[in-house]
Amino acid sequence: MADVITTLLAKMTLDEKIGQLNLVIAGDAVTGATVSEGVEQKIASGAVGGMFGVYGATPVRALQNVALEKTRLKIPLIFGLDVIHGHRTIFPIPLGLSCSWDMAMIENIARLSGDEAAAEGLHWVFSPMVDITRDPRWGRCAEAAGEDAYLGSRISAAMVRGYQQNGENSVLACVKHFALYGAAEAGRDYHTADMSRLAMFEQYFPPYKAAVDAGVASVMTSFNDVEGIPATGNKWLLDDVLRKQWGFKGFTVSDYTSVNEMIDHGMGDLQTVSALALKAGLDMDMVGEGFLTTLKKSLDEGKVSENDITTACGRILRAKQQLGLFDNPFKNLRDESPAEIILSPKHRATARDAAARSCVLLKNDGDILPLRRDAKIALIGPLADDKRNMQGTWSIAGNWEECVSILQGMKNAAPAAEITTALGANVTDDPLIAAKVNIFGEKVILDPRTPDELIAEAVSTAELAEVIVAVVGEAQEMSGEAASRADIGLPGNQSALIAALAATGKPLVMVFLSGRPLVIVNESKQAGAILAMWFGGTEAGNGVADVLFGDYNPAGKLSMSFPYAVGQIPVYYNHKKTGRPYAGEFPGVVDVPSKFRSRYLDIPNEPLYPFGFGLSYTKFEYSDVTLSETAARGNASITAAVTVMNTGNYDGEETVQLYITDPVASISRPVRELKDFQKIALKRGESQTVTFTITTDHLKFYNNDLHHDWEAGTFIIQIGPHSAQLRSASITWEK
Ligand code: BGC
Repeated sequence: MADVITTLLAKMTLDEKIGQLNLVIAGDAVTGATVSEGVEQKIASGAVGGMFGVYGATPVRALQNVALEKTRLKIPLIFGLDVIHGHRTIFPIPLGLSCSWDMAMIENIARLSGDEAAAEGLHWVFSPMVDITRDPRWGRCAEAAGEDAYLGSRISAAMVRGYQQNGENSVLACVKHFALYGAAEAGRDYHTADMSRLAMFEQYFPPYKAAVDAGVASVMTSFNDVEGIPATGNKWLLDDVLRKQWGFKGFTVSDYTSVNEMIDHGMGDLQTVSALALKAGLDMDMVGEGFLTTLKKSLDEGKVSENDITTACGRILRAKQQLGLFDNPFKNLRDESPAEIILSPKHRATARDAAARSCVLLKNDGDILPLRRDAKIALIGPLADDKRNMQGTWSIAGNWEECVSILQGMKNAAPAAEITTALGANVTDDPLIAAKVNIFGEKVILDPRTPDELIAEAVSTAELAEVIVAVVGEAQEMSGEAASRADIGLPGNQSALIAALAATGKPLVMVFLSGRPLVIVNESKQAGAILAMWFGGTEAGNGVADVLFGDYNPAGKLSMSFPYAVGQIPVYYNHKKTGRPYAGEFPGVVDVPSKFRSRYLDIPNEPLYPFGFGLSYTKFEYSDVTLSETAARGNASITAAVTVMNTGNYDGEETVQLYITDPVASISRPVRELKDFQKIALKRGESQTVTFTITTDHLKFYNNDLHHDWEAGTFIIQIGPHSAQLRSASITWEK
């Protein structure tokens, strides 16, 4: 017997089927030059399958009713939105969340975000964004989970599970941007990405595949081209890899007008690129209406088949069925946004905890942190008393007025502290940059005083205090989409502010907000303590205050390396070996062997702060690595263990990281790769043995024929607190 969708498809006209492939925008989530027009009329004529940008009972109900009352078959619309790190309660940006290495928390945050979205009538979130990012110039690294395929894959799967829970409030997830968007050349947004298939399968594809394996309902294509063909029209990507190799069963959607943008990529006119996309396996066309306006003609001319259209339509209808929209088109929609869900105390508490857990302590000389609760603190900097920039990019439904500033958070945590403030510097001194970052509302309000006047005031404020906390960094729209930066130091005059504050000789804590790793080499010498807090979301101020006063002992670890200089980019821990590796030189000795080596004349090869790095207020000591065997055969499974001891003065959490090196293989392999991690909590004085199970799955890689397998040989098993501080043991593994 035919299923419901097959029966429905049999009743549909060609126009009705093409209408289902059309995704329109209404509201304020516009990210391109084109905006949908005549939306209501189009819905009424059956020319719309879904929409995004609209949420809340009144508009969702009204528009859904148009589809139900005016169209012949009464097929409900699917409502989507960019719910990227929370809907109304905003959690830390994804880059920040990834630094928690806390999968249970990340999954829970996706669930809570889905609950809020569902309560406002949304069915579909354009998340997780899982593009691997090795280039901090690219502003969208704020939305992603960093440079590593394994960590990225774990996070990808956790988020899909969180959104698509089987409960009442399930929303469909949409993994994006398939594929390679994070590899945009020179970090310039929308730029081409060019790499070997080996790099795709080894480094860039795994997080998308992890989402597919976790059952993600939809996949968004990326703007860039892949091997010369834009992803949105790339059959190899959308059909061969995604559907045939990975078994993806859901539907695909273009990015914002990415079908039309293939014209600018040089692939032909709108009819040609629309047919190319459909044939490649694209099901839904976001905003551009190439499908709506040209597919019929292409069918008449034999450029697409009716079956191509029916297949795409069937996939979209099945997603609606999966959501239960045919049974209840108003599923989960509440008449009023429910206070027990939207910005509820539970959600805010989770956001506060997440803001603290996302912080990465990069330096803490002389244990300046945590601060005493009765300290005399000079709180300086353009982001110290600010609510407008706490949420971070892509917080469409978030309201900055709900945010807790850092000043407020510190007052809440330490009412007895004497806190004086000064601006110190504008976030930027360039009115053009300020205008660009104010495009979604005023984030940067420039103080008319000169940089010198602002610094002079800050220095005199600092001189009266015991300790300085400088809150500096980027305004929130300095990262995100179309927010690439070529110079990724502290913007404006903020570096000079840090230098001036350091020159006072007072203990200096630098807290910085950013949507990317920054180049902070000078500041890393000047400040005694440095805390990366990314953009912490609605509860940013309370979360960071918990860290500053020691109510939460920071445990975040970097998911992206901090470059020493822009000229080092891309810099990432799991790079390949060269034939002329550089092992360092003796200071002052310039000899020939060290000359012909892979290195810079002017800076080290290593990043300023490596992947996986992050300090705690306490100290963890690692034992040597012990292996259950030093020789194994076939499908054996062995264990590797270390004992970690908390030898410092605080209880704390540590993420114990397992890396493996395959020194000799049929292709050259990375110097090391993250394979597993465990986050543990240890009271002061306590120790714990952490055991990892290793199987041949951990040894597998794609060889030159793109065959995924392991090769016999010796492997170096490494465990430690970060990618550049590891203890190791070797094992030989025979077939
Ligand atoms: C972005 C996507 C987003 C879409 C819809 C695009 O510009 O690249 O990440 O989901 O807009 O808002």
